[in-house]
Amino acid sequence: MKQPLTASPSAALSGRIRVPGDKSISHRALILGALAIGITRIEGLLEAGDVMATAKAMQALGAEVERSNGAVAVKGQGVGGLRAPSAPLDFGNSGTGSRLMLGAIAGHDMQVEFTGDASLCRRPMERVLAPLTAMGLQSDADQDHATLPLVVRGTHDLLPIVYGLPVPSAQVKSAVLLAGMHAPGRTTVVEPLASRDHTERMLGYFGAELIAEDRGEGARAVTICGDAELYGASIAVPGDPSSAAFMIAAALISPRSDIVVENVLLNPTRSGFIDTLRTMGADIELLDHRFEGGEPVGDLRVRSSALKGVHVPPERAPSMIDEYPVLACLAAFAEGETRMQGLAELKVKESDRLSATAAGLVACGVAARVEGDDLIVEGRGAVAGGGSMVETHMDHRIAMAFLTLGLAARKPVTVDDTSMIATSFPGFITLMTKLGATFS
Ligand code: S3P
Repeated sequence: MKQPLTASPSAALSGRIRVPGDKSISHRALILGALAIGITRIEGLLEAGDVMATAKAMQALGAEVERSNGAVAVKGQGVGGLRAPSAPLDFGNSGTGSRLMLGAIAGHDMQVEFTGDASLCRRPMERVLAPLTAMGLQSDADQDHATLPLVVRGTHDLLPIVYGLPVPSAQVKSAVLLAGMHAPGRTTVVEPLASRDHTERMLGYFGAELIAEDRGEGARAVTICGDAELYGASIAVPGDPSSAAFMIAAALISPRSDIVVENVLLNPTRSGFIDTLRTMGADIELLDHRFEGGEPVGDLRVRSSALKGVHVPPERAPSMIDEYPVLACLAAFAEGETRMQGLAELKVKESDRLSATAAGLVACGVAARVEGDDLIVEGRGAVAGGGSMVETHMDHRIAMAFLTLGLAARKPVTVDDTSMIATSFPGFITLMTKLGATFS
């Protein structure tokens, strides 16, 4: 059942909060934990729908996943040690869980059915099946239009490949690297622009041998040495910057706000949003920069700011791909045009985020338009809003972006459904309310 919610113009936001653990790192910790020998202890795992679907899949494949002393412990089966599940694996709303797991099971001689919810069953899977099929995975997919549900069959005899990614996608890169662990020799992924590198960092941390090389103009090649062994390790998951983005945006556009978001992941492959906000004139101070579990983290103090429209170049997209809906909402409060270029990948997220964001903004009275793969927002320094209803299309980030906009618009904004927020950020409403936001 749909759960609509209205965000109303709120007083100044204030206080200190911690957002839940990073979703990308949480999925990877469970998957690598299940493929490692011994125990992996994960502190701060994101306990949201998407990650829980991956945890269930790992259990169905033979790993033990249980809570232990405030953390989650995974007892792994070793590389190649997963066993055939007795039922289809249901990844719910999660593109990351399903795509990474296609790579992780490819080196096992077993048949597995992958499925998911209505949104996931519309998303393209040929992008992962193309390289994995070249390595030896078989599937019942339609050649040019592969979507879940899918039945795949792995093999002990995977072939190593050199694969040039047609789109910068950390999910596809990760699927190939996970499969490459099971192949003999070296498997290389060449990406046109660096995408999030958590898989590489964590594989190295668990004992796999990897080589990363810059190939100029932002391109990178990552090679995994096959027949790898992984060893269980302890992981502390930092706060998710893609969740923190909503609180940061809310504080910037709500007058007289002053908040601190603690323990935010600051990996450079994820920090394009903060970089962009700074060019818009955002007052964001980094406090206590430190390293935790091999990842840079820090606390961010954010104060309301007069923002100006900017040009966001296409090469920045991989480092802030999930933040465009909230950036576009925030851009409506800036003075002048914000032009976000090269957003083709937004069309294949949990919804077509390019059109859903533009349509939501127009419903709120903002001049926004799509030109090819670009999104243009004409900022007027304020948003009239006005009892508008925004359609979320089963997309958690569209829901959170427009609730954020509603906190600073002149009139309330309603989103048609908030149930999907639990897939990535179950405490969103509670934390925003703690800062002073008003919802009804
Ligand atoms: C993710 C990669 C991104 C991102 C998604 C999480 C990951 O997708 O949108 O939310 O954890 O690898 P793509 O790799 O498809 O760009």
